Amino acid sequence: MRQSKTDVRSFLRPDVWAREPYEAPETVAAMAARLGLDASSVLKLDQNENPFGCSPKVNEALARCERFHIYPDPLASECRAGIAEYAGAPFERVMAGNGADELIEVLFRLFLRPGDNVLSFPPTFGYYATVAGACLAEVRSVARQADWSIDVDAAIASIDDRTRVIVVASPNNPTGNITPVRDLERLADTGRLLIVDEAYFEFAGVTALPLALARENVVVLRTFSKWAGIAGLRAGYGVLPEWLVEQYLKLKPPYGMSIAAMIAVSASLADRRYLLQTVELLKRERERLIERLRGLDFASPWPSAANFVLVSLTRGDAESVRLGLERRGILIRTYTNARLARSIRISVGRPEQNDRVIAALKEVGETL
Ligand SMILES: Cc1ncc(COP(=O)(O)O)c(C=O)c1O
Repeated sequence: MRQSKTDVRSFLRPDVWAREPYEAPETVAAMAARLGLDASSVLKLDQNENPFGCSPKVNEALARCERFHIYPDPLASECRAGIAEYAGAPFERVMAGNGADELIEVLFRLFLRPGDNVLSFPPTFGYYATVAGACLAEVRSVARQADWSIDVDAAIASIDDRTRVIVVASPNNPTGNITPVRDLERLADTGRLLIVDEAYFEFAGVTALPLALARENVVVLRTFSKWAGIAGLRAGYGVLPEWLVEQYLKLKPPYGMSIAAMIAVSASLADRRYLLQTVELLKRERERLIERLRGLDFASPWPSAANFVLVSLTRGDAESVRLGLERRGILIRTYTNARLARSIRISVGRPEQNDRVIAALKEVGETL
């Protein structure tokens, strides 16, 4: 290969060398190949997907589509109209994208300049820090309290004139708790952009949407990945202040949301009764799973308003439990965050899957 005089590596942004990639879990195929397991027997409880899958109407609608060779509508108008009706928000204020991730990314890029900061409440969803880093912004972490609630006074005290964005996942991933709307109101009163990430809204039923509709600085984000079972197709949305929509369109990737995702959103919304029944079942299963976890002598589950349960271990360490479950073909989530060193997160599965994880945990518990 011909060597140019200047090493192109020197043009890479220096900060990138030092960054860690976003920690996405290993795929089932890779894990099964590594352990010599049959991939179809692997129980995936590590990414909070809907274990009932998507609506069959999604598969039918995708099979019927003859428009895959045409670029999608950059404004996703049809899909947004459906979302607006479903969410109870004005059409003009709904933006759709390639997962909630895309909305997080565009919003951060709109508000964060190098040296700015974003207030975040760890332990929480890791992608906020990834995107803030890409904007050369600082993540100002205000640790959650012992019960995982936000210390609003501490949050307000840590704001300075470079604080542009406050991001709160509610329910929070991985702790499962909701931030009360009165706390969100106080954070909104600071005048910064408040992003309330309601990725798990359907499992909680509590929303800051009225706050977003009433204020000029509050955005609510949601996704179809969890309740609607289309994580693989990537569809999320946000309800934005009216003034921000026009600016948002300037930085949004023009064709972020694929035609397949748009079709899947419309079909999911048309079949929402079925999907919301699976959500109800998962909510019941969540409570049953928590009850069964309480029965283990080494586990202390937290309450959850989402489709996963965070479990503090009272014996053993998270890595031993993860490996023990992995050997039995079950994937769960562990964390590098120091406060979660002895915690695991289990997504709520179908009833028989939850029985399987409890049985496996009993076996693993005996080895701890
Ligand atoms: C709190 C939170 N926000 C956003 C997302 C990403 O959602 P999407 O799949 O729509 O990009 C997740 C996914 O795990 C999440 O937990």
